Amino acid sequence: MRTHYCAELNENDIGKKVELCGWANSYRDHGGVIFIDLRDKTGLIQLVCDPADSEKAHQIATQVRDEYVLLAKGKVRARGKGLENPKLKTGKIEVVVDELIIENSSAPLPFVIGDQNVNEEIRLKYRYLDLRKKKLYDIFALRSKVTVAVRNTLDKLGFLEVETPVLTKSTPEGARDYLVPSRIYPGEFYALPQSPQLFKQLLMVAGFDRYFQIAKCFRDEDLRADRQPEFTQIDIEMSFCSDEDVMKVAEEVVKEAFKAAGYEINPPFRRMKYKEAMELYGTDRPDLRYDLKMVEVADLFEDSTNEIFSTIASNKYLNRIKALKVPGGDNFFSRKMIKELENFVRKFGAGGLGYFQMKEEGLKGPLLKFMSEKSVEELINRCELKTGDIVFFGAGEKKLVLDYMGRLRIEIAKQMGLIDENRFEFVWIVDFPMFEVEDGKVKALHHPFTMPKDVKVGDIEEIESIAYDLVINGIEIGGGSIRIHKEQIQEEVFKLLGISQEEAREKFGFLLEALKFGAPPHGGLAFGLDRLIMLLAKTESIRDVIAFPKTQRAQCLLTEAPSRVDREQLKELHLRIREIKKD
Ligand code: AMO
Repeated sequence: MRTHYCAELNENDIGKKVELCGWANSYRDHGGVIFIDLRDKTGLIQLVCDPADSEKAHQIATQVRDEYVLLAKGKVRARGKGLENPKLKTGKIEVVVDELIIENSSAPLPFVIGDQNVNEEIRLKYRYLDLRKKKLYDIFALRSKVTVAVRNTLDKLGFLEVETPVLTKSTPEGARDYLVPSRIYPGEFYALPQSPQLFKQLLMVAGFDRYFQIAKCFRDEDLRADRQPEFTQIDIEMSFCSDEDVMKVAEEVVKEAFKAAGYEINPPFRRMKYKEAMELYGTDRPDLRYDLKMVEVADLFEDSTNEIFSTIASNKYLNRIKALKVPGGDNFFSRKMIKELENFVRKFGAGGLGYFQMKEEGLKGPLLKFMSEKSVEELINRCELKTGDIVFFGAGEKKLVLDYMGRLRIEIAKQMGLIDENRFEFVWIVDFPMFEVEDGKVKALHHPFTMPKDVKVGDIEEIESIAYDLVINGIEIGGGSIRIHKEQIQEEVFKLLGISQEEAREKFGFLLEALKFGAPPHGGLAFGLDRLIMLLAKTESIRDVIAFPKTQRAQCLLTEAPSRVDREQLKELHLRIREIKKD
C-alpha cells in the first residue's frame, strides 16, 4: 500500500510522487491549510493538505483526528525557509497531499502516546497503544536484531536449535512452579519449566553434542525490576567440554549480541572468585564501573575497648568488620546525608553505621576513642586514607554485614554520581560454593546437577562447584555449570542435600535413569535475554523489553489474566475452588 516509510524520506526525494500509510500523530489547522504528522514505525513526516492543491483531500483532512489510520498520496517538497523542524528527522521536507483516504477512525485515546506521566497500569491495559511509541518500537527492533545475531552465532558454532516441552514436570531452579491441571489424569499436574535444564542434559545423553534454545521459562517468585514470572533464556548446553569451553562460547555469543546493538567489545572477560566478590563488594554480582571496595578490618578492633566491637572481631569465621572508603566522601556527605545513609542500611538489618572522617589534622569519628593508636594508624594505611575521604563501617554477622555494606556501596555510587552509564564492565564470577546453608537447611547454590570440585571436603560450605555467572554492570546476565554425568556423584550430592533416594527418584528419576546409559561429560549456561536487552537498551524496567509483560503482582492487565474460569471447566479438570476470602 506504500511506496516509502514516512521517516525514510529525505531531501533526495524532493519532487517524487509518494504513497504513505500510517497514523495521524497530530493535527493542526493553520488558517485553512491542514498539517498532519503522519507516523509509522520509522517516525514522522508532515503532510500538507491545502485546498489550493486538492479541495477533496483538504475536505477529508478536516475529519481527521488523533490516531486515525490514513493512506496519503502526494509529492515531496522542501519546507519553506524558517519552517524547517530540526527536531524531526524529516524536518526539512513535507508531502503535499493530493489524495487522502481515512482507512479507519480511532476512539479518543485513554492517554497521550509517549506521555511519561501516565500511570503504568493504564499503559499496560492498553499496551498496544503504548507500544506505538518510538522508544518501545526501537527496543523491540534491537531485541530482534540481537536474537537473530545470537541464533546465527550459535548456528555457526555448530549448535542445534531444539525445542523442549512447556507442559512438563517440575524443574529444579528453586522458585515455585506454575502448575497446569491434567484433564485426563484427575488430581495430576504438569509444571511449566523454570528452565529447560533437565531436557538439555537429556539431549546431551542423546548425543546431540551442542544444543541451544531461545526458551520461555516460568517462575512463580517475588518480582523485582529485573524479574518477570515468564521470561526468556538463551539456553546452551554442550558435551565433552570444560568450563573454559563453555565460557568461550558464551563470550562469543555476548560479543556478537553487543555487536548487533552497535557496541564493539573484546572478550575474554575478567574473572573473580565468588569469595573475593563477596568480601570486596558484598555481592556475587558486583558493579565494577566504579572503584569502591570494602576492606576487612576486624583485626584492628580485636583490642578495642568497645566490647561490642571486640566481641565481633573475635570470631572471624562468623563475623565481619568491613570498612568502605569513599574518596572525597567527607567533602560530599553532610551530617544529614550520613544520617540518611544510616537509615538506609538499617532497612537491611544494620544496627547502625559507623564512620571516620579524614581531616587535615587527622582521623575523626565517634569510634576512634575505642581504638589503639597503632590500630588507627594501620587503618589509615590499609584504607589509604587521604584528607577529604570518609570511611564507613559495618560490623556484625558476616552475611548481614556483606549484604548491607554492598547495598551501601551502590547507594553511595548513585548519590555521588560515580556510575558511568556509558560503560560496560563484564566479570565472570567463578568458584561458587556448591551448597549454602540457610536456617540449618542445605541447599544447592545453583542446582543439584552442578558438578562439585570435590565432595570429600570436610566443611559442606567449603565445597566448591564448577559453576560460573556472567555479571555485567552489577546485573546477573547468565549462569551455568559443568554438570554431574555420573550417577554415583549425583547420588552423593543428593545425600548431602538431604534428598532421599525415594524423593530423588520421584522428582528426577528420568534424569538419574538417563545417567546410567553412557552420559557424556557436559555443561552449559543460560543467559537472561530480557536482562541482556535491558542492558543494551539502557532501560531500568524489564517490562520495557517484553511485548506483553506482567505487573509486579504477576498480572496481565491487558487480558486480565489470571482470571476465574467457569464451573464446567473446573469440573472437567476435577478441581474445586475453596471459598476465597475477599479483601
Ligand atoms: P538461572 O536460574 O541462573 O540458571 O537463570 C539464568 C539467567 O536467567 C535470568 N533470569 C531471569 N530473568 C528474568 N526474570 C526472571 N524471573 C529470571 N530468573 C532468571 C538471569 C539468569 O542469570 N538452568 C540454569 C542455567 C544453566 O545452568 O545452564 C538456569 O536457569 O539472567
